[in-house]
Amino acid sequence: MVLNDGNLNLRVITASTMVKAYIQSNKDRFLSELFDWLRIPSVSADSRHKDDVRKAAEFLKAKLSAAGVENVDLYETKGHPIVYAEKIIDASLPTVLVYGHYDVQPADPLNLWTSPPFEPVIKDDKIYARGACDDKGQVYMHVKAFEVMMKHNLLPCNIKFMVEGEEEVGSDNLGAFVKENKARLQADVILISDTALISLDHPSITTGLRGLSYMEVEVTGPNRDLHSGVYGGAVANPINVLCDMISSLHDEDGKVTIPGFYDKVTELSTSEREALNRAPFSLDEYKKELGIDEIKGEKNYTTLERTGVRPTLDVNGIWGGYTGEGAKTVLPSKASAKISMRLVPNQGSAEITELFTNHIKAIAPAYVKVKVTAHHGGEPAVTSTQSPAYKAASKAFEEVWGKAPIPTRDGGSIPIVALFKKELGLETVLMGFGLDSDSIHSPNEHYGVKNFMLGVETIVSFYKHYSPK
Ligand code: BES
Ligand code: MN
Ligand code: MN
Repeated sequence: MVLNDGNLNLRVITASTMVKAYIQSNKDRFLSELFDWLRIPSVSADSRHKDDVRKAAEFLKAKLSAAGVENVDLYETKGHPIVYAEKIIDASLPTVLVYGHYDVQPADPLNLWTSPPFEPVIKDDKIYARGACDDKGQVYMHVKAFEVMMKHNLLPCNIKFMVEGEEEVGSDNLGAFVKENKARLQADVILISDTALISLDHPSITTGLRGLSYMEVEVTGPNRDLHSGVYGGAVANPINVLCDMISSLHDEDGKVTIPGFYDKVTELSTSEREALNRAPFSLDEYKKELGIDEIKGEKNYTTLERTGVRPTLDVNGIWGGYTGEGAKTVLPSKASAKISMRLVPNQGSAEITELFTNHIKAIAPAYVKVKVTAHHGGEPAVTSTQSPAYKAASKAFEEVWGKAPIPTRDGGSIPIVALFKKELGLETVLMGFGLDSDSIHSPNEHYGVKNFMLGVETIVSFYKHYSPK
C-alpha cells in the first residue's frame, strides 16, 4: 500500500508494518481479554474447579468465534471438554493444527504468591497469574494472531485449533479423541506454543521433549501407628525404610540404579553434544537465579545435557507420620512418595514403569510391604529441523527477532506430541515463547508482555513463510 503522508513524501506500508501497528494499537485489549481468561481458575486436577474448567473452555470458544474461526465447539470427554475449531479457506492449501491447553496447575502454596494467582496483574512488564505462561498466555497469542490475519486478509492456509483441558493431568482423554477423529484432524503440521525460549536475546525452537513415568510408592510397616518410645528401635519405621530405598535409586555418579534403566537411551554423538552445548548458557546466572551455590547431576554431562537429553528420577512429594504443629512421638504405619522419571529417546514409558515397579519390589526389605502404583506417563519426542514448518518458524523468528533461532531440547513433557506422530503421522513444531524463569507450576508464574506481543507477531510471520500467499 502507498500512502501520502501529507508532506508529499510517499511511504510504502508493508503488510508486516500494518500487522505490527495493529498488534501495538490493540495491545491493551489483547491483554485485558487474556486477563479475563486468567481470572477463571481452570485447575484440572481439582474437582472443586470442574465448573471453572468448563467456563474457561466456553471463554475460549467465544473468543475463537469472535475472531472468525468457524465450527467452534466443545467436545465432551470422560473428563474436561476439548475446544475444537477450524477455518478452512481452501482444501488445496496446507492445514496447520494448533494444539494447546487451557487447564492450569493448582496454585498452591498460596501464601508464596505476591499477588493472588487468579487476579492477574502486570509487574515489571510481566503478567503474573497462574496459567499466564503455561499455557493460556501462549494459546491466546494464537487466537490474536488469527484475528490479525483475518483483519488484514492475510490468512494463507487452513487452520484447526484443538485446545484441551487435561494436559496438566496427563491428557488421559485426548488420545481417544485423536483416534476417533483422525479425518477431522487431518493436517500438514501441528503447531504448539507451550515451551520456552533460551532468553529474550536468544530465540530458540524446541526440538525435543522428554517423556514421563509418574509413580507412587506406599510402604507399610506395622498394622497401626505406634508409640515411638515403646516400639522405636525394634520395629522398622516405614519412613526410614522409604528414605533408604529412595536414596539407593541413585549412585555416587548421579546415575539411576534401576537395572535396565539406561539400556535403550540413545547416546548423542560428539558433534551432537557439541551442537547442544553451543547454546548460550551461563552456569553462574543459572545458580544465581535459583539461589543455589552448587549444582548437582549425572557425572560427565553438562546442565543442558542433564535437562535435555538425559533421563532422570526425582521425588515429587513424600509424606507419612506426624507433620502437624508441635511434636508427636509416633512410629507411623505407612509412608508414601510420588516419584517421576523423565525419559529420553528411545525409552518407553510402559517399560520404564515396569522396571521401576519390579525394582522397588525387589529392594523392599522383608520387614515392610510395598505397593507401587503408576500414574500418567508419556513418550519422549524429537522433532525435525528439516521440515517446511520448522523452516518457516525459523524464518519467522529471524524476521521478528532479528536472529535465527537455535534448536534446543527442553526437559519438560508434552506427551501428546509423540501421540500425534504415531496416530496422525504428523510432525510438530514447538514454537514456544516462555522462559525457564517464568516459574510455571510454581508460585508467581509470569509471562513477559514482550514475549506475548512478539509471539503474536512471530506466529503471523510463521503462516506467511509456511504458506506464501
Ligand atoms: N508446558 C509444559 C511442558 C514444558 C514445560 C515443556 C517447559 C517444555 C518446557 C506442560 O504443560 C507440562 O507441564 N507438562 C507436564 C507433563 C504432564 C503429563 C503433566 C510436565 O512436563 O510435567
Ligand atoms: Mn503446558
Ligand atoms: Mn504445565
